Amino acid sequence: MRSLITVLLVLAVTLVPALCGNTQRPDPQPETPTETRSRFAALDDVRLLANGLLQLGQSMREFVQKTKGQINDIFQKLNIFDRSFYQLSVLASEIKEEEEELKKTTVVLTANNEEIKGLSEQINSKVDGILQEKSSLQGKVDSLEEKLRSLTSGLMTSEQTAEINGLRDVIQSQEQSIAKLLEAVREQSDQLIYQRSKIKVLEEKLASHSFAQETIERTPEIFNSEAPTLAPYLTSSFSSRTEILNLPSDCSELFNRGEQVSGVYAIRPNGSEPFMAFCDMSRGFGTTVIQRRRDGSVNFDQNWDKYENGFGEFKGEFWLGLRKIHSLSAWGNSVLQIQLEDWKQDRHFIEYRFHLHGPESNYTIHLTHLSGDLPDPMSNHSGMMFSTKDRDNDRQQDSNCAHHHSGGWWLNTCGDANLNGRYFHMRARGRSERRRGIQWRPGQKNSYSLKLTQISVHPVPTLPSSSSFETDHFQ
Ligand SMILES: *[C@@H]1O[C@H](CO)[C@@H](O)[C@H](O)[C@H]1NC(C)=O
Ligand SMILES: *[C@@H]1O[C@H](CO)[C@@H](O)[C@H](O)[C@H]1NC(C)=O
Ligand SMILES: *[C@@H]1O[C@H](CO)[C@@H](O)[C@H](O)[C@H]1NC(C)=O
Repeated sequence: MRSLITVLLVLAVTLVPALCGNTQRPDPQPETPTETRSRFAALDDVRLLANGLLQLGQSMREFVQKTKGQINDIFQKLNIFDRSFYQLSVLASEIKEEEEELKKTTVVLTANNEEIKGLSEQINSKVDGILQEKSSLQGKVDSLEEKLRSLTSGLMTSEQTAEINGLRDVIQSQEQSIAKLLEAVREQSDQLIYQRSKIKVLEEKLASHSFAQETIERTPEIFNSEAPTLAPYLTSSFSSRTEILNLPSDCSELFNRGEQVSGVYAIRPNGSEPFMAFCDMSRGFGTTVIQRRRDGSVNFDQNWDKYENGFGEFKGEFWLGLRKIHSLSAWGNSVLQIQLEDWKQDRHFIEYRFHLHGPESNYTIHLTHLSGDLPDPMSNHSGMMFSTKDRDNDRQQDSNCAHHHSGGWWLNTCGDANLNGRYFHMRARGRSERRRGIQWRPGQKNSYSLKLTQISVHPVPTLPSSSSFETDHFQ
């Protein structure tokens, strides 16, 4: 027994310092003569030490377990992170692929368009050639007929007559084949027009797609202040070119064809591309709406590009776009009708004879007052070019009215009428702020911005105008 304890003691003495470093120094002289007492003392020490060691071991185990748990946690989190990172990279590569595809389609479309242009030119030159040939043939026919006449006046052998008749047959069949060729050429050219408009639609789709991507990449707050673009004018619902060629030239023609429900329709003004437009059919005739304000849902403080091409929603507020308005009124036989409503539900209207020039003269407007129960601030704007905050065409020197106002209009001097101003639900505080509102009567103490506006275009009626405002409805 004793020897066992001794062995333990010796073991403890040699092991403990190695294990716990500087925790407790054992007696440095275990083999002095007074060993019995000191051995008992050492035994106590050993117990103490063993206890300590045990506790140390336990807390180390707890510590190790805790650490293990934390490490597991970290590993789990790392796994989750790994997975979402993987998903993200998959998404990113998908987006990249789509972008690549879009790019490729654009290239193909551009190439197609070029090809079609080339074809179109070729066909044109062919048509020219055929026309020349036809006129030279006509000349030949004429001279032959002349000869025939002179021959019949003299005596003619039956041989000569037969020869002449044969020649005539040849010429007739040639003329027929020329007519056939011309027909084929015309068909091809129709086909080209159709294809071109299809390509245009695809291009617009691509443009709107990349626009969407851009806005997603930007912050979402910017998206709200961007004006939405009007829906592209054609969709795959147009299956044939005859459908496009047969589109009405405006809402008035559509109404006369029997369509009497207000809504969004495809139209194709003379010499223009087809596009979608809102038709107001509620007044016994059709009129093409070019502007509408009613709730401030669309930001009208836009640049030249937006005013030229249009913005907003047909369902709510919109500006059809100067390019399209020009194509509707370029023939000089249009009526511009302006309907306004204030916050007391008072409705008024005014009509002008209307002509809008094209982009080369910055969409200069020409107005002649016709009728209506509103004051006429716009006749004074006749001959004015269109102005936006980024293209100052007003007559005010050293100042940009469209900037002081808001939105684009045919501005003359600052403080003019402007139906594309900012929409205020309540009376604006300051005078400079009120000046930015939707104004029709400048100079007066313009109390507030208007509540509803609708501007529309229709041809000068052939019968005396009977447009009664009482039955008007804002859509
Ligand atoms: C298109 O042209 C025809 C005559 O060629 C004319 O009668 C018609 O009013 C024009 N349409 C528009 C919308 O200008
Ligand atoms: C149209 O507007 C631009 C920019 O404001 C101007 O530089 C140009 O001279 C204008 N065109 C005409 C015909 O006045
Ligand atoms: C028309 O505008 C001019 C400024 O270009 C102004 O001097 C004139 O008084 C205006 N006329 C009317 C009738 O408002």
